[in-house]
Amino acid sequence: LPPIGAGERGEPELEATVVAEPGAVTVIIPTFNESGNVRELLRQLTEAVPARLPCEVLFVDDSTDDTPEVIESAAQDCPFPVNVIHREKPEGGLGGAVVEGLKAAGSDWIVVMDADLQHPPALVPDLVAAGERTSADLVIASRYIDGGSRAGLAGGYRVAVSRAATWLTKGMFPAALRGISDPMSGFFAIRRSAVTSEALRPLGYKILLELAVRCRPEQPAEVPFVFRDRFAGESKSTAKEGLRFLRHLVELRTAATLARMIAFGLIGLTGFVPNLLALHGLTAAGVHYLPAEVMANQFGVLWNFLLIEVLLFRDRRAHRHWADRVGRFALLANADLLLRIPLIALFVAQLGMGVLTATACALLATFVLRFVGTEALVYLP
Ligand code: GDD
Ligand code: MN
Repeated sequence: LPPIGAGERGEPELEATVVAEPGAVTVIIPTFNESGNVRELLRQLTEAVPARLPCEVLFVDDSTDDTPEVIESAAQDCPFPVNVIHREKPEGGLGGAVVEGLKAAGSDWIVVMDADLQHPPALVPDLVAAGERTSADLVIASRYIDGGSRAGLAGGYRVAVSRAATWLTKGMFPAALRGISDPMSGFFAIRRSAVTSEALRPLGYKILLELAVRCRPEQPAEVPFVFRDRFAGESKSTAKEGLRFLRHLVELRTAATLARMIAFGLIGLTGFVPNLLALHGLTAAGVHYLPAEVMANQFGVLWNFLLIEVLLFRDRRAHRHWADRVGRFALLANADLLLRIPLIALFVAQLGMGVLTATACALLATFVLRFVGTEALVYLP
C-alpha cells in the first residue's frame, strides 16, 4: 500500500459526494441512532487507520436522533475526511444504506463496518492488507475461523439462531459462499472494481451475503476477529428483521436459479444445430432415420455438455472425473427424451390436454427436471 500523504483535516459535509484519491480506503458505516457510539468509533479509527493507509469515512445515516450532529462535532478531531449521507427515506434498511455508500465511495478498497464498536477498528488496515497480499476481491472478518469468536453474541439463543442461519445460508448458496465461513458478518473489505451496484437489491441486514451472491467476488479471504459487546445503546435488529432475512434468502435464491436456468435453456437450444447437422450427415450416409435420430442426439448432448462445463459449471467440476460427468449428463439427456413420450400421453389421457399443449408442458417439465438433475447429480459433491 502507498504511504500516507500529509494528514488532511476532515470537514464533515452533509449530503456530500465523496471522491477519494486512488489507492485509499473508504470506510462505510451505516448508522441508525448511534449517537452514543460514533465519537468513540472515530477516536479508535483515528488510532488504527491513518498511520498505515490513507482513508476517508462515510456514514450513511437513517437516524432519528442527533447522530449526524455528533458525527459532525467528533469529526473535527479526525485527521481524515469524514462525510455523512443522511437518508430521508431509509429504503432497504442497513443493506440499502451500505449500497448507497458503495455508490458514493471513490476508493479502490471499501470497508464496511458497524458503528457500535462490535467490529474492532484496529482490524481495518489488516483487512485491506490481506486483500492486497492475496489479490482477493473480498476479505471477511470472520467469527468462525481460528482466532475468531462471538463474545458479543450474548445468550445461547442468539448464538443458536446465528449458527442455524449460517448453516442454512451456506446450504442454499454452496458455490457463491465457498471459502466463506461467516456469510452473516457485517465487517468486510471489498474492492470497488468487484462491486456491480446495479445488480444489487439489498434487503435488510445481510449485505455481505447480497454482495457475495450477486457480485461473485473472486477468491474471498478471511481474517479472524472477536465480535465484542456493544459500546453503547442496543441492537436495532428485531423479529421483523428476521422475517426480512428469510425473504432476502428466497429472493436471492430465485434470482440465482432463474439466471442459471435461462443460461441452461439457451445452451440447450444451441444444441439443435449440431443435432440437425449430424442427422443430415447420417441420413445422407444411408443410416435409417430412427437410429440416426438417436445418434444425432448424442452430438447435441456432447455440444451442450461442453458448453455448460465451460460457461455454467466451471467452478464445480472438481467433484467428479470428467468421464463420470459426461456419462451422467448423457444419461440425463437421454432419459429426458424417453420420459417425454409417456408424459405427453399422460397429459393427454389423464388431464385432457390437447397434443400441442401437452407437448409444451412435457418439454417444460423435462427441462426443469434435467436442469435440477444436472445440478444435483452431475455437479454437486
Ligand atoms: N443506516 C442504517 N439504517 N443503519 C442501520 C440500520 C438502518 O436501517 N439498522 C441498523 N443499522 C446500523 C446500526 O446503527 C449499526 O451501526 C449497524 O447497522 C449494525 O446494527 P446492530 O443493530 O448493531 O446489528 P447487530 O449487532 O444486531 O448485528 C450485527 O451483527 C450481526 C452478526 O451477528 C450486524 O453487523 C449484522 O449484519 C450481523 O449479521
Ligand atoms: Mn451491533
